[in-house]
Amino acid sequence: MENMQKQEQTGKIPKIVFATNNPHKLEEARAILKGCVDVLSLSDINCHDDIPETAPTIEGNALIKARWVKEKYGFDSFADDTGLFVEALDGAPGVYSARFAGPHCSPADNIALLLEKLHGEDNRNAKFATVVALVIGSKEFIFKGEVEGRIAHEYHGKAGFGYDPVFFPENSSLSFAEMAPDDKNAISHRGRAMRKLSHFLSSGL
Ligand code: IMP
Repeated sequence: MENMQKQEQTGKIPKIVFATNNPHKLEEARAILKGCVDVLSLSDINCHDDIPETAPTIEGNALIKARWVKEKYGFDSFADDTGLFVEALDGAPGVYSARFAGPHCSPADNIALLLEKLHGEDNRNAKFATVVALVIGSKEFIFKGEVEGRIAHEYHGKAGFGYDPVFFPENSSLSFAEMAPDDKNAISHRGRAMRKLSHFLSSGL
């Protein structure tokens, strides 16, 4: 934060690294943080490391990624990690959502396994949770966003990514994959966590 205040006094927008190269996430973060911070990607700082995501929680993984950039590259940084938590599966796939069907599986593989495991199950309750970890100077902060919903029995829609075609947020007749991106971002787990980050950064400057 001290760095940011110094930069603010010089009239420059502070730079902060989002520990990702996912273009979709970068675009979303840049839109939410516009005018507040200048968001750099990992490739912008020449970081091509395969950052390990070995923590048992999404908080832990987000912190590993943000700390990695701060410790190895010296930039203030934030990182996100997301999980889909399904009630009837005791919270699975949770922190393992990306590799639910195996180390190199596709989103379609993950959805197929999810629908197979929920076959015949009436309890379709689930939630998406995102944690954004921020490392600024010597301080660390965590922002959480969640959206409750339910898992469909089959695919609905083609937009979005990941588990979107089988996730219906609560009180919605549309799946995430049937929504316009702005409508999804307005209620999504990641949108909620990113807006908390944005409020924090704008009020702290
Ligand atoms: P990550 O932490 O963003 O890499 O996400 C972990 C897993 O959750 C991946 O399998 C993603 O495809 C999935 N995921 C994350 N966010 C969303 C979302 O908004 N919709 C659907 N799936 C998502």
